[in-house]
Amino acid sequence: MKWVYVEDIAAYKDKDVEVRGWVYNKRSSGKVRFILVRDGTGILQTTIFSADESHPLFGKFDELTQESSLVVRGRVREDKRAPGGFELTVQDIDILQIARDYPITPKEHTTPFLMEHRHLWLRSRKQHAVLQVRAEVIKAIRDFFDGRGFRLMDTPILTPSACEGTTTLFETKYFDQMAYLSQSGQLYNEATAAAFGKVYCFGPTFRAEKSKTRRHLIEFWMVEPEVAFATLDDAIDLGTDLILFIIERVLTDCRADLEELERDPKLLERITKPFPRMTYDEAVPQLQAKGSLMKYGDDLGAPEETLISELSPNPVCITHFPAKIKAFYMQPDATRPDLALGVDFMAPESYGEIIGGGQRIHDLELLEQRIREYNLPREAYEWYLDLRKYGSCPHAGFGMGVERTVSWMCGIKHIRETIPFPRLLYKIYP
Ligand code: 4AD
Repeated sequence: MKWVYVEDIAAYKDKDVEVRGWVYNKRSSGKVRFILVRDGTGILQTTIFSADESHPLFGKFDELTQESSLVVRGRVREDKRAPGGFELTVQDIDILQIARDYPITPKEHTTPFLMEHRHLWLRSRKQHAVLQVRAEVIKAIRDFFDGRGFRLMDTPILTPSACEGTTTLFETKYFDQMAYLSQSGQLYNEATAAAFGKVYCFGPTFRAEKSKTRRHLIEFWMVEPEVAFATLDDAIDLGTDLILFIIERVLTDCRADLEELERDPKLLERITKPFPRMTYDEAVPQLQAKGSLMKYGDDLGAPEETLISELSPNPVCITHFPAKIKAFYMQPDATRPDLALGVDFMAPESYGEIIGGGQRIHDLELLEQRIREYNLPREAYEWYLDLRKYGSCPHAGFGMGVERTVSWMCGIKHIRETIPFPRLLYKIYP
């Protein structure tokens, strides 16, 4: 008998097939026994019908518990009453393993309990839906850049130097040298952009963030495009189109997942370009008027990110930050050199910053000066300085955090559910 996946079941109407999966739930009603079987691609109602109470399949039904693994064979029938419109009339069941006392039952559990059981929690419907959206968002990102002729460049995870400040670096030994887990592939991307014109890297990044918030992970995935000869405005246009592309894909291909998550698609459907733009100088008084305690010159914290994201149903782009609060590589504004040509995209509905980027310094002397001012070890950046010696040009790019984007798409409160195994402050189990 042919092994088929639940997601393909409609193509096997009135055929005999085999489904391999786990018991999601079971119930009985008179002469009928129902086993809901999940196989990772969907949940199928399978039915055993008999007037004989001692039917051997009823015995198997009685033995089965939640999450027991099994192989079910039977005939696919169309039935409007069944979830998904199809069910399987069972002819035969092989029990592979009986799961005893599965810890996650249909009752409510606390988040710490679920996080301890993350390896099992992944099987729950809501978690499954979020990770389906995550996979689709990643696919959309790849399709977007590949479709625009960007070259995928894998940047290293073990690095000798910092990209985003030294306070959040993860140190590790690299034989007899110190190394750091990558905070961002950007600096290497600047090198590959000079070789390929437009590139992107996509991988895990690491930040020893001491902040325990619903927006921070210690290990998160970031996509980072970098474009030679591009400016801040080009980076904003690219980020805008990327976000709209992802939204469209999620709305088209993840409808059922959004429904499972009770996500109102209208909140995504209404996103249109252009996104409102605001300079840091314009934003600060508005934020203060709305109750923020920040002073001019402070970085935008979580409360400010929330306030900004309440300003518009669209993401809001904040630009021209004080150079002092931004990374060493940011290009200063030509008329206001105290301001950096950076941009943060703040997602609506309080999801906060999902994209950070901007234009990079292309002048050798200025970059050397910044490396000194930021007390960075020049030896580690010699190769990076080379990029300003040999064919330097304006260039720009950004990083988009996958998990923050997925949180927003799914409308979920905490980022920890957007990655199969979140690394959180002091938490590395399972
Ligand atoms: O603004 P960030 O720090 O920018 C960079 O790393 C640049 N080097 C990127 C570039 O220009 N190529 O981070 C970019 C994005 C943020 O907007 C956010 O979405 C995500 O990365 N991010 C995090 N996501 C989850 N947990 C964290 N701790 C994050 N830190 C940043």
